[in-house]
Amino acid sequence: MTADEAAIAELYDNFDAGAMFAGSVAGDVRNPYPELARRRRESPVEKRTQTLFKGDAADGSGDVTQEAYFVYTYDDVNTIMRDNESFTSEAVRELMGMVMGPYVMVGLDEPEHKRHRNLVAQAFRQRALQRWDSELVLPIANELIDRIVARRDGKAELVRDFTYRLPVQVIAGILGLPPADYPKFHQWALDLINVTSDPEAGLAASASLAGYFSEICALRRREPQDDVISDLVNVEIDGETLDEEEILSFCRLLLPAGAETTYRATGNFLYGLLSNPDQMAALKADPALMTGAIEESIRWEPPLLIVSRRASRDVELSGVTIPAGADVVPNTGSACHDETRWGDTSEDFDILRTPQPHIAFGAGPHMCLGIHLARMEMRASMDQLLTRLPNLRFDPDRLDTDPHIHGETFRSPTGLPVVFDA
Ligand code: HEM
Repeated sequence: MTADEAAIAELYDNFDAGAMFAGSVAGDVRNPYPELARRRRESPVEKRTQTLFKGDAADGSGDVTQEAYFVYTYDDVNTIMRDNESFTSEAVRELMGMVMGPYVMVGLDEPEHKRHRNLVAQAFRQRALQRWDSELVLPIANELIDRIVARRDGKAELVRDFTYRLPVQVIAGILGLPPADYPKFHQWALDLINVTSDPEAGLAASASLAGYFSEICALRRREPQDDVISDLVNVEIDGETLDEEEILSFCRLLLPAGAETTYRATGNFLYGLLSNPDQMAALKADPALMTGAIEESIRWEPPLLIVSRRASRDVELSGVTIPAGADVVPNTGSACHDETRWGDTSEDFDILRTPQPHIAFGAGPHMCLGIHLARMEMRASMDQLLTRLPNLRFDPDRLDTDPHIHGETFRSPTGLPVVFDA
């Protein structure tokens, strides 16, 4: 193992999924879905004050709260996300701007959003995706599995050993970062992703990343390479280009948007298969089921349950008038379990169910830019894990650790202790 690899290994060996939820009230939930089903039935659009983070004061005076209209049904969530004139992304800009910078794409409104998205999308074209699959994602997945197999004990903890590591490395790879920088990039990435549990470290990481990406931008302007930062500094459509602040915002957005979501989604997929061995067996017997299985896992346990909007005018939804200026929280997780769309088995993980488009990747103008990359990473990961770790199953000796999916805003497994036939 090189010194760089040892530094990265140490970072991840100290990883504690439970600690990521510390301080976040929104994280301390095992199964939000029965309560969300009740809200869909009884109060599909409701005004509430929600505690986002608990402060130290016993009387709650230090808590961070948000008053908003919470929206739970598929149809209402879909309406909000497609109508970006009535529902702007101003609230996202305020929330994420501090950490990601003022031009964070997911917080932009039209016409700036469309301009920015068109330029950035150039770097995510189909040709790049095919190259990332074979030259980046597969080798990274295989290298992580090599380490698991090399231990020769037929055991792994797949969150720590696999799902938490892969997407950050993929983002580093598509940005074209030099491998010698990986240890510091990984540390900043982890601090940025964990900003909710440690805001001070998260903000410091955000500043360090801005300085770091700025230097790489200067290098790529002088000597372009085959990577996303080179594409971003050189892109031009009809005379429009991206300025440096926009590029720095985008690169930082890629960590929470692209790495955190995908690591959680891959963990949820694995959890669904490990807790339903019959479905794991069906998938292994018929790899053609993979595409539907990935979508079903993202529908069943989306890694991110809510997005934010602000009403720009009075709008009526499900009989409730949302006044202009109000914050609105569409619950995409609840929408993905709406029984009017997925029937009375909507809470079940079922890779054989009749496919029905879901909304975990969003909808409308802000629909996930990384949707194809996320699906490709999940497919490559699962193909390799299922092939190279035969008879993969929960470790019966470590079930006392009670692996389960956890969280109310972000959801993923607390751990995935497994055994396989070594
Ligand atoms: C399973 C994994 C993922 C899920 C569930 C997911 C989910 C979402 C959702 C719900 C939105 C819409 C946010 C809104 O409307 O306010 C979004 C936007 C976005 N996602 Fe993803 N995402 C995933 C993976 C990725 C990946 C791998 C990337 C890497 C490129 C990425 C990049 C983005 C970007 C840049 C946006 C902003 C798009 C815009 O504002 O126009 N996402 N994602």
